Amino acid sequence: MPENSNYAVAIDGPAASGKSTVARRLAERLGLIMINTGAMYRAIAWATIQRDIDASDTAAVLAMLDDIEVTCGVNDGTSTILIDGSDPGEALRADDVNSRVSAVAAIPEVRHLLVEKQREYLDLGSLVMEGRDIGSVVFPDTPYKIYIDASEEVRLARRSAEGLTDVVSKRDEEDSKRKTSPLVVAEGATVIDSSEMNIDEVVDAAMETLREQGLNI
Ligand code: CDP
Repeated sequence: MPENSNYAVAIDGPAASGKSTVARRLAERLGLIMINTGAMYRAIAWATIQRDIDASDTAAVLAMLDDIEVTCGVNDGTSTILIDGSDPGEALRADDVNSRVSAVAAIPEVRHLLVEKQREYLDLGSLVMEGRDIGSVVFPDTPYKIYIDASEEVRLARRSAEGLTDVVSKRDEEDSKRKTSPLVVAEGATVIDSSEMNIDEVVDAAMETLREQGLNI
């Protein structure tokens, strides 16, 4: 744990497992800052589109990283990200970002840059941070780790209910197979399978899990 008493709650899981909603609700209930790390990888993918760079061309992506300013902050209790001072907004959820974000996220230097920024957030206060490698890589020492899962069928249905045509299974495969920080159930994490649960039930289960993991709430 860091020298100050701030702590991180790590929420990991595959695409469309409901982890963002659960993380947001937990942060509200516990009065913690909510950090969406997927948005950070999405913002880098978005920048490659703006500059017409092939997301799988590592050298080109790295040259771009040298050239852009990535600013991470917090607004109203939630993480924000600016690329050269601009907020990509809703464009982060667009199909062209969905289809290239996993390639960008597989580049070790991209991960290194963003993981540093993710760890710095702990200086601002206690956090709920959601992503793929929070319990395994970003904050491996935190005792508070939850992995939210759901069947592929349920996850696809959730995405299409949001009106999105996201290729979740393709992203999951890429995220699980990559060499650097693949999607895994982190050591010490408790798995919650949300396939048959509504959101309130998942949040209650997550609160109970955090109590079992020793969080005084
Ligand atoms: O919300 P959704 O599950 O669709 O994905 P996201 O959390 O916005 O993450 C988008 C993509 O960013 C993932 O498919 C991963 O490729 C990457 N990512 C990652 O590699 N590590 C993280 N900590 C968070 C996201």
